[in-house]
Parts: sequence; C-alpha cells; structure tokens
Amino acid sequence: MSDLKKIKEEFLSKLNKKLNVSEINQIKTDLFGKNGLVSSQFKKIGTIADSERKKFASDLNIIKDEFQNLINSKINEAEINEINEKLKKEKIDVTLPERNFVRGKIHPVSQTIDEISSIFSEIGFSVEEGPDVENEYNNFTALNTPEHHPARDMHDTFYLDEKKEKLLRTHTSPVQIRTMLKDKPPFKIIAPGRTYRSDSDQTHSPMFHQVEGLHIDKDINMGHLKGYLNYFIKEFFEVNKIKMRFRPSHFPFTEPSAEVDIGYQIKDGKIIIGEGDKWLEILGCGMVHPNVLKNVKVNPEKFQGYAFGIGIDRLAMLKYGINDLRSFFECDYRWLNHFGFDPLDVPTNYRGLSR
Ligand code: DAH
Repeated sequence: MSDLKKIKEEFLSKLNKKLNVSEINQIKTDLFGKNGLVSSQFKKIGTIADSERKKFASDLNIIKDEFQNLINSKINEAEINEINEKLKKEKIDVTLPERNFVRGKIHPVSQTIDEISSIFSEIGFSVEEGPDVENEYNNFTALNTPEHHPARDMHDTFYLDEKKEKLLRTHTSPVQIRTMLKDKPPFKIIAPGRTYRSDSDQTHSPMFHQVEGLHIDKDINMGHLKGYLNYFIKEFFEVNKIKMRFRPSHFPFTEPSAEVDIGYQIKDGKIIIGEGDKWLEILGCGMVHPNVLKNVKVNPEKFQGYAFGIGIDRLAMLKYGINDLRSFFECDYRWLNHFGFDPLDVPTNYRGLSR
C-alpha cells in the first residue's frame, strides 16, 4: 500500500472516533504541522520519478483538501458539542425555590430612621447630616449656650481634648448651625443621627439617636410647629387620632420652648398610642432663638421658625414594643432576628411604613 493510502486510512479511522477540540487539533498538527505527515509528503515531491510525480502530487492535494475539510467540520461539531454540554451543566433554573441562606435584618433603629425620613420628606423636609465629633462652638456656643451656662452641665458631655474644644455631639442640634452656615434661608430640614452623653441605665445609653428638625422661613409660627408634629406623630404610629400636649420648658436655643407629650394607655399589657390618660414625653421643641439666627448670619427680623429634637430610640421602643433600651446596642443576633426588618421592605408612605 502506498504511503498516502496508509496515511489516509490511519487518519480517517482516528477522526471517526468521538474527539474533543484539542484532540482534533493534535491530529491537525500530526498531519499539517511543520513535520506533519502530509507536509513531509509535499517535501518529497521533488524526489519522485517524473512519470509518477504528476499523479502523486494530484493525489496528495486531494488528500490534503479532504482532511482539511474533514478536520474543520469535526472541530466545528466538537465545539458545538462542548458548548451544549457546558450549557447543560451550568444551567440555572430560576424557577427553583431559594436555597437556605441567611438573610440579614434591618435594625429597628435604622428602620425607624427610614420611617421618619420618609414621613418628613413627603412634607417637604430634606435630610441633612453632621459629624459625631463636633466642636464646642457648634454644639453649644452657637446654640446660645455660652460657657458656664448650666445647660452644658446637664449634657454630661464626652470631651475629646483637654481644652474642651472637641467633643462627641450631645444632641443633633449642631446640624442646625452647620446647615444654616452653609446655605441661605429658607431651611426645612431634618437631621437624624447618633448622639452621646455619659449616662447609662435602663432608659439611657451613652450613645443614642436623635432627629433634629428645623424650619425657617418668612412667616413660620408655632401653629406650623404644632401642625407638622401632629401630622408626623399620627403618620409614625400609623393611627388616625393622637392626643398631644405642649408643656412649657426651657432650651437655650429656643424661645418659647416646649416639651411634647403624647397620650397613651396600657391595654392587655400593650401600649396603645393616641388614647387614654397617661402622658409620655417624646420631644423638645420651640421657636428658634433670635441669637441663634444671628450667630449664623440669618436676619431674625426677616426670618424665623421652629426647631425640634426627637429621641429616636424611644420612638422605636414605643412603636415596636421593646422595653429595654440597652438591647438595641447589644448586637444579639437572636434579638435582631426577632425585632429586625426585612431589608427588601423599605418603608414608604404609600406602601406602608412597617409591614
Ligand atoms: N437638643 C435638645 C436635647 O437634646 C432637644 C431639642 C429641644 C432640640 C428643642 C431642638 C429644640 O431643636 O428646639 O435635649
């Protein structure tokens, strides 16, 4: 049998097996590589006797074409097979139920902040933020609380340096100052965030949360303050009626100042907000003191308004029936699993705040 015939038979039978792409490529090299069998036959043409050379060359070309076509179509076929097998193996059935993975929960304080922000944004307040590390000026002096003012002692401040220039903010009120210094009136903002005082028991934690409110414009009076707070409390507790009372109080940065209580009762061991004859203090507020406005270069003859500061943790405790403030900050996973919220249920006023 001639060499060509041998090559043809041997390689046809090789290519007839089920091969993958790299095996076929190997055969391609064996035949057509630099020292491949077909390539070597081409080199031989010159040594063949004149009488046989023409036939030899034509047979060789036919074999070459045959194998090249065959190899190309085999590679095509093998590639398609490989892709199909991969697709079969890597298929994801999106209709299958989810596997058992642990989903995190939103902390009740974060949930409450989201709810508060959602309610106030609906009625035109934007959300501002300030740093936890404040300077003494923003936290006290600019808020009409000069040095030696008794209100400073009441705040149990954590100072961060000996000169008492830097501190952990004792309330969110310094965000009022920051906001008014960086923009021009009117202002209509809330500022939720962490606050700090050196105090710790069942109802006090050294770190707690407040939300500040500030609304300054040309004709803002205490009626607006009452109306907005009344609306907020009803929305927050998801009730139609609320009992609310303003008690005269004192804050250096407001005049007049008030504390606000909401009416509640306890029925079958549960707190019911908006009914009953018990009162619970939930916030401090008042008309922004002209000195505060002067400190931030707002003309009190032209602009005035109200401010308020609400304890967020206390609202969250009331709404979600949590009775020890400290549990908020213990990072107990079982507690969070029980009281936490689904991260996909973002509170909105339309869909409901706390489903
Ligand atoms: N900053 C006060 C506190 O922490 C709360 C407060 C009272 C904020 C009256 C206000 C306000 O904006 O007008 O006790």
